[in-house]
Amino acid sequence: MPGRDVLATFHEGAPHILPSMLQCDFGNLEREVRELEEAGVPALHLDVMDGMFVPNLTYGMPVVAAFRKLTDLPLDVHLMIQDPGRYVQHFADAGADVLTVHVETTPDPIDVLNRIRQAGMAAGLALNPSTPVTELEPSLGACDLVLVMSVEAGFGGQAFNPVALERLQGLRDRSDRKWILQVDGGVNESTITSCAQAGAQSLVVGSAIFDQTPYRIQIERLKNLVSTADL
Ligand code: DX5
Ligand code: ZN
Repeated sequence: MPGRDVLATFHEGAPHILPSMLQCDFGNLEREVRELEEAGVPALHLDVMDGMFVPNLTYGMPVVAAFRKLTDLPLDVHLMIQDPGRYVQHFADAGADVLTVHVETTPDPIDVLNRIRQAGMAAGLALNPSTPVTELEPSLGACDLVLVMSVEAGFGGQAFNPVALERLQGLRDRSDRKWILQVDGGVNESTITSCAQAGAQSLVVGSAIFDQTPYRIQIERLKNLVSTADL
């Protein structure tokens, strides 16, 4: 699916659940992807970490390209790297459809977001719970997606920080909203309903899907919570 067409899919299917592939079995990537496709997920969320902006180090373009070869699902790539502008074209070439960068990692987010769009991808901007939400303000007009982190970026399995809920509500209620609202970190059976109620359209889930098999069962449980929530 060509990059920015993904936005229509994200809008139509909202609120939807995206698996974060941080904890998947990388020794059986094809099997993992098939299982998630069969569970009906609308896209895959891929976490790229550099050991600099965040202490954790994960994977880069070759693994994104490996996912690209395995599936036609949109790839939602979450970059947790310093100076992400260096790699915009590399991730476009690897097959990313959405490329999200952290506001903390670049002095000129608007330039990076514009370059992401020019490379044919949807442009996302993320911020950590510890970063003042006002940091987003100047760049919102250049965003296709805003990622409100509900944990400090870096690791799966952390506890949900409720500061994300008021941020989601604030961003949801703006009259100039054109962006998809995404939340990531600690989203599980106890927190997913309040995220959807606060306006999150894209719910990224790691350990609450991957801690047990089959993943389909966890995805169904989470989907049921979202579909029965009073939104
Ligand atoms: C954290 C990553 C998340 C992480 C989510 O920095 O961006 O995508 O995998 O994992 P859980 O759902 O376990 O918090
Ligand atoms: Zn993520």
